Amino acid sequence: MSPSGRLSIGGLDVCDLAAEHGTPLFVYDEVHLRSRCTEAVAAWPDGVAYATKAFLCKAMAQLALEEGMSLDVSTAGELHVALAAGASGSDLVLHGNNKSDAEIDAAIDCGIGRIVVDSFDEIDRLQRLSHGLPEPISVLLRVTPGVEAHTHEFVTTGVEDTKFGFSLQSGAAAEAAARLRAVPSIDLVGAHAHIGSQVFRVDSFEQTVAMLAPFVAEHRLAELCIGGGLGEAYVTGETAPTMTEWADAVRAAGAANDLPEGTRITAEPGRSIVAAAAITLYTVGTVKSLPGVRHFVSVDGGMSDNPRPVLYGSGYEAFLPDRTTHERPRCVDVVGKHCESGDFIVKNANLPDEVSVGDILATPVTGAYGHTMASNYNKVPRPAVLFVRDGQARVVVKRETLDDLLRLDA
Ligand code: LLP
Repeated sequence: MSPSGRLSIGGLDVCDLAAEHGTPLFVYDEVHLRSRCTEAVAAWPDGVAYATKAFLCKAMAQLALEEGMSLDVSTAGELHVALAAGASGSDLVLHGNNKSDAEIDAAIDCGIGRIVVDSFDEIDRLQRLSHGLPEPISVLLRVTPGVEAHTHEFVTTGVEDTKFGFSLQSGAAAEAAARLRAVPSIDLVGAHAHIGSQVFRVDSFEQTVAMLAPFVAEHRLAELCIGGGLGEAYVTGETAPTMTEWADAVRAAGAANDLPEGTRITAEPGRSIVAAAAITLYTVGTVKSLPGVRHFVSVDGGMSDNPRPVLYGSGYEAFLPDRTTHERPRCVDVVGKHCESGDFIVKNANLPDEVSVGDILATPVTGAYGHTMASNYNKVPRPAVLFVRDGQARVVVKRETLDDLLRLDA
């Protein structure tokens, strides 16, 4: 923050960035990204993967690799971008509840570090596709521990009623382990669990370890991956455990539940690496007041660059980055430009009274599941993404053009 109350990131005034690069615009603080990766690598010395679904482009994959993380990919597309960024197969772990033959082949071809097995059909597929390979493929078994993560139902995955993984309680996980052990071209090296996303309570992870430790011991597995899911504070008043607190709690739960000594304990955070590193900048296009009802502030993006408020009811803050020290007494709904009443970015946002057409408006903590979930709804081109650092901005994802919208038309 400059003395004038104007927000700068990486030494650059964000309103100047908006003027130069246009809006909507995602601006990531590269130093922040790197420090989150550094903390993750220190917290998880046995290995930690960045879950690329949270935000992926070549620059992001390279940054995570440079800082010592490996990469979790869950589709051929994420795999393709990771390889294009220079990742080697051994840097990668492949997820997915419905991996195609082509995805598994691509993973095997690049010498993937781990495949996380999700279903009995996939075991058949892996057996067929790995048959005759000179080296067995290394797999983790995704186990559903039956743990409530206390998060939105759409991002809950650890309970019994889920499409992901093998249930511990029903015995499916044990049966899957036995089947995998019987395939010579498959090396079962560990168990994996991911209980959900935006999880604020470390006790949910502790319970997961408690559920999985006997399974790891019984099946003599060398690794336990606890997945991702660490929550992130989005709005005033929220607090999340730190990466270090999360890792320490998981390790302590391992010790308390007789996880065999020497078990490699790993994780794959996404959101907690990238969420708080970015803000989105918009330009205010209209300000409409319905007396006694509501004020609407419309911006030049919306559910196409941030579907999270509509999908999950997620909350964000909003502010004017050239007036950060001004009081924010005016309660408004920040809405997008799409043809739906549900297209809102921030309900009941607090803004300065004088908010008006042409102002740059910022929403912080948009670095995770923002650009990555962006769409072209209403044929709105996707925004550009900048990494800024030491007074320099680099475009890591270009803004889509109107012609890009026609690129795939036959
Ligand atoms: N590992 C697995 C197997 C996952 O499915 C996920 C996220 C992660 C790791 C990373 O989780 P994180 O640390 O980012 O919470 N679109 C939703 C989030 C979906 C998360 C999907 N899986 C949102 O915007 O909140």
